[in-house]
Amino acid sequence: MKTTLSVIKADIGSIGGHIRPSRKLFQAVADHVEKHSKKLLLDHYISYTGDDIAILMTHERGPGDEQVHKLAWDTFMAGTEVARGEGLYGAGQDLLKDSFSGNVRGMGPAVAEMEIEERPGEPFLFFAADKTDPGCYNLPLYMAFCDPMNTPGLMLSPRMMKGFTFVIMDVSHTEGDRVIELNAPEDLYHIAALLRDPERYVVESVSPRSSGEPAVSVSTSRLHNIAGKYTGKDDPIMLVRVQKDFPATGEILAPYSIGPYVAGAMRGSHQMPLMPVTLNSGISFFDGPPVVSCAAFAMHHGILTEPADVFEHPFWDRVRDSVSAKAIDMRRQGFFGPAMLPMNELEYTGITDAIEKLDARFHVREERP
Ligand code: 13P
Ligand code: 13P
Ligand code: MG
Ligand code: MG
Repeated sequence: MKTTLSVIKADIGSIGGHIRPSRKLFQAVADHVEKHSKKLLLDHYISYTGDDIAILMTHERGPGDEQVHKLAWDTFMAGTEVARGEGLYGAGQDLLKDSFSGNVRGMGPAVAEMEIEERPGEPFLFFAADKTDPGCYNLPLYMAFCDPMNTPGLMLSPRMMKGFTFVIMDVSHTEGDRVIELNAPEDLYHIAALLRDPERYVVESVSPRSSGEPAVSVSTSRLHNIAGKYTGKDDPIMLVRVQKDFPATGEILAPYSIGPYVAGAMRGSHQMPLMPVTLNSGISFFDGPPVVSCAAFAMHHGILTEPADVFEHPFWDRVRDSVSAKAIDMRRQGFFGPAMLPMNELEYTGITDAIEKLDARFHVREERP
């Protein structure tokens, strides 16, 4: 029997702007899932990262299952009522449709799922990021699955040596899922050529060529493509299986020590470094910096252990210090140059409207004779 991992995540309201959900809201979500999941799920785990609440579920119903998705949708709807009652900011922010229709994809919440043949020991990682978009995982995934400088397993393990298949999505294509499959190592330069542009090309999944089993699943939704306007950054989640045919946990985590600049933070319109944080952390400085948390699990017949909070280790304190320094440095230059996103990625139309109006006031100077 195969096991399905489904994570569904949404921002349904938070304290003090976009900081974190209230305890009452978090508890309401946990209670709703507990009460309504008895016959449906094998297990579940609820967490928050910044202002987003994620429901990780294990079951045997396959990806995209209507009842599993409906449980998450109904939970977020019930949570939104609590958020409204408490006056939380952006109550129901990510619920972009009025009624549920079969699957939460395209309705606002982020989804990452995989159906797996459980190994005798099934270790996996659940990542959740806030104040950024799905391209934030491009660099860490490239390094972990393509680069022996980061991942010695690519040289040491005969099965990993066969390489990995990347499915990459062109998220600017709004009419449907435009995807390409590329193989590491032969297509390495092409993979890099796409992943260097994380606002347009986003890793959707990765699988080892030795087995084709799922290794990585990323939520690739672009909220402003769904809503047609800004509603919040996409704040992506990701599932990664580790060990044996897959990179070791440490090989997956190592790239997060870079604190790469990603799109996001204040008003979803800036470039700021990605900070690894502990589970259930809020955000702070300049509506950021963009944060990523990671819960490591072992699983047996769909039953989860408690999460190991991988970024809690003292090693990451030093990384957090360096990310804070990078964030402050970047903020010193305010709106200037690379501190902000290019025009087409700004999450507000105010500036484009203003520049359009100024356009009429531009004039071309007459040539002097
Ligand atoms: P163990 O020998 O502790 O199983 O570790 C193997 C490994 O993957 C370390 O990166
Ligand atoms: P969220 O997408 O996390 O709600 O953040 C929105 C925002 O504009 C922060 O400044
Ligand atoms: Mg929010
Ligand atoms: Mg958020």
